[in-house]
Amino acid sequence: MSELLLSKIKNKTATIGVVGLGYVGLPLAMEFNRSGYRVTGIDIDKKRVATLNLGENYIQDVNNEFFKQQVAEKRFSATTDFAVIRNIDVVTICVPTPLNKLKDPDVSYIVAVLDELVKYLHKDIFIILESTTYPGTTRDLILSRLEEETGLKVGQDFFLCFSPERVDPGNPDYQIKNTPKVIGGITATCTGFGTELYSRVIDKVVPVSSPESAELVKLLENTFRSINIGLVNEMAIICEKLGVDVWEVIEAANTKPFGYMKFVPGPGLGGHCIPIDPHYLAWKLKSLDYKARFIELAGEINTNMPYHVVDLVSTGLNQFKKAINGSKLLLIGIAYKKDIDDVRESPALDVLRLLENQGAEVDYYDPFVPMIKWNGDSKTSLSNISPNSIQGFDAVVILTAHSNIDYRLIREKAQLIIDTRNTIDKTKAKHIIKLGVGFPEE
Ligand SMILES: NC(=O)c1ccc[n+]([C@@H]2O[C@H](COP(=O)([O-])OP(=O)(O)OC[C@H]3O[C@@H](n4cnc5c(N)ncnc54)[C@H](O)[C@@H]3O)[C@@H](O)[C@H]2O)c1
Repeated sequence: MSELLLSKIKNKTATIGVVGLGYVGLPLAMEFNRSGYRVTGIDIDKKRVATLNLGENYIQDVNNEFFKQQVAEKRFSATTDFAVIRNIDVVTICVPTPLNKLKDPDVSYIVAVLDELVKYLHKDIFIILESTTYPGTTRDLILSRLEEETGLKVGQDFFLCFSPERVDPGNPDYQIKNTPKVIGGITATCTGFGTELYSRVIDKVVPVSSPESAELVKLLENTFRSINIGLVNEMAIICEKLGVDVWEVIEAANTKPFGYMKFVPGPGLGGHCIPIDPHYLAWKLKSLDYKARFIELAGEINTNMPYHVVDLVSTGLNQFKKAINGSKLLLIGIAYKKDIDDVRESPALDVLRLLENQGAEVDYYDPFVPMIKWNGDSKTSLSNISPNSIQGFDAVVILTAHSNIDYRLIREKAQLIIDTRNTIDKTKAKHIIKLGVGFPEE
């Protein structure tokens, strides 16, 4: 173990470089700051870097005042220049890992970081990959290039771990600090450095025996969610067919104090994790001639949910002798989940696209998302909702259950409500179709 690096980690003089300053990287950088380390953020986005250096924060989960203070006190600065790595002791990589058009992993962002890293790798540097990825990435993609192209040896000259980021944006109870951090290094020394570092930043560290284990931990967690959401989405459809209220069934099932975990149905999966991560695992397994059937089935059910929501809209309008084509519709919520501003992979966007494709005139209202890029242009949220505006729509479709929306107004004034999030008591609304509830008698 490098005594110098260890003592820098212990006395917090180790300089931290966070590569990728998005939903994951910026809050992580602030957590390092909070525990006393100095941080340099590295991002290829010049606009983001300039904004951050002005002390302006763009991530909802980051405290503006604390951020400003870190910038003012030069505890945090951002740059687009990877050469700073020459003087950095610890580099965490938090760049995107999306899917390509064929739904295969796109690790090009990690590769781009690697292209820079090999230029500036030095002795006694500690690298941690935090981006979600398929098992084997840290060893096969990163380690092999770092050793081959620099001549430095892992576990001796430099240290390498995988540690999945488990942040849940917008979660009021669990943030980075109180979410246990799993870490697996290429060698035991690497894991040791990871444990030494993160135990100074995060309440609980969970070392595992290899980066592959750590990579798989993240994929298990998100595959578990995707499959359980798929199950409960299918249960919603089953309940509609049986004329039973899925929300009542779920609440009653949730009274069992053991052996059951609550998941709720909705218009589909969203965000940069749950719809994507299981495909990373399935893709890896395909290369080993194994079909990950649970993942595929859940993916199929979840991907179909926006179509199902459109069917519910069509059924509802039909009761008024109206068609989707030509109807004026209002979507409530465009973010992928409640109380956040992230629209990545949001199923609400799929619902919007499907409804527009069928000829509807669609507006949306989302207090967290004032504008979206849409069809090469932009689409803006209604600035508010009022009795008049609500009454003017043929149907209001609730897709994201943000807290600060006047559901009572919607309940009282909408001509027709399609509620995919159980926000409205069906006994109190005149014309409502709820996801997972039997269709109303005509
Ligand atoms: N968002 C989440 O809730 C969440 C939770 C857990 C894990 N993750 C994982 O964390 C990783 C990052 O996700 P995110 O949501 O923070 O993404 P993001 O899009 O919010 O941020 C990524 C940042 O990386 C920058 N970037 C892109 N290429 C770069 C490069 N070559 N060099 C330097 N910077 C580069 C982008 O400009 C952007 O600022 C992904 O692997 C994701 O799966 C995300």
